[in-house]
Amino acid sequence: MAMVCLNDFEKYAKEHLSKTAWDYYSAGADECCTRDDNVLAYKRIRLRPRVLRDVSESDTRTTVQGTEISFPVGISPTGLHCLAWHEGETATARAAEAFNTCYITSTYSTSSVEEIVAAAPNGYRWFQIYVFQDRKFSEQIVRRVEALGYKAIVLTADVPYFGNRRNFILNQFKLPPHLQLKIFNGLHQQENAVPEKYHTSDPSITWKDVHWLQSITSLPIIIKGILTKEDAELAVEHGVQGIIVSNHGGRQLDGTLATIDALSEIVGAVKGRIEVYLDGGIRTGSDILKALALGAKCVFIGRPVLWGLAYKGEEGVREVLQILKNEFRLAMTLSGCRNVAEINRNLIQFSKL
Ligand code: FNR
Ligand code: LAC
Repeated sequence: MAMVCLNDFEKYAKEHLSKTAWDYYSAGADECCTRDDNVLAYKRIRLRPRVLRDVSESDTRTTVQGTEISFPVGISPTGLHCLAWHEGETATARAAEAFNTCYITSTYSTSSVEEIVAAAPNGYRWFQIYVFQDRKFSEQIVRRVEALGYKAIVLTADVPYFGNRRNFILNQFKLPPHLQLKIFNGLHQQENAVPEKYHTSDPSITWKDVHWLQSITSLPIIIKGILTKEDAELAVEHGVQGIIVSNHGGRQLDGTLATIDALSEIVGAVKGRIEVYLDGGIRTGSDILKALALGAKCVFIGRPVLWGLAYKGEEGVREVLQILKNEFRLAMTLSGCRNVAEINRNLIQFSKL
């Protein structure tokens, strides 16, 4: 099967994954308006390309938190990679390492952090955490990943409770018995059941807990799940190093703006004081170009990685990244930009169509 674009991987995954895996990965909250709008919103934005600018040489590299990556696409944290491919997150880590890009490991990984680091020792990685009611346990995780060479802590702020995913209710979603959420090893009750208090963040957390996090680690802290300028301003005031504009792939609150539509007001409020990233709905190179033109330093992809894993494990994820990289380079040069520094707001058509 010829894989030409990311949609081909989605189609493959839908046809080949178990119903449990497909339903878990594709789920959105409630009516899935936000999940779908994340993708559609890019199609409503038009570009203003420039011509005759010598694009014979082009460079897709950029930096995040001062570290160079080969193109402005990293991997968002998503759980349960072993549902898609037997090697799970270790395959994802190797693909990210091969592309010299950033892989945010999810708390809900089915490979252990030690296995992930051993599989891709030179990979550039951040770790996504939830602040659990059991602060000691969250603290142990932070220390463990810091010792393993993770370079930032990504605090997911939009999961005080799980969103209402109707297909989970229908299927009574449960982790298959042969898989484990490895970070919880030792805490499992019977079989692979993780105690309920570790299912989401402590719903009582506030910005004070960001200070707590800063007190236990010297790593940069990045808040994931910001959708408003008010919260972006608070993030800056609380001294974090970055934010990810995200609505959790439309899996939490249905009815929020698509992330690309929320980006501008946030970039406007942050005024370059910290890096602003975005995830949700990135499926093509021109989506990446639009997000960068509107001020994102880098974007991250969630589901497309899971589709790549479902296709061919590490090789499948590499193919997904390669397609996006090729498409991004082409979109960048066709719009008259030789490198990411030349991408700016003038590329975006703001007047009504
Ligand atoms: C997620 N997401 C997520 N986020 C997070 O902070 N921790 C996690 O464990 C997970 N797990 C997870 C599982 C699955 C199956 C999906 C689809 C998503 C959200 C994820 O990081 C990201 O915000 C979205 O997936 C981005 O949207 P796209 O690229 O999937 O459209
Ligand atoms: C999800 C959790 C793992 O979205 O964040 O399924």
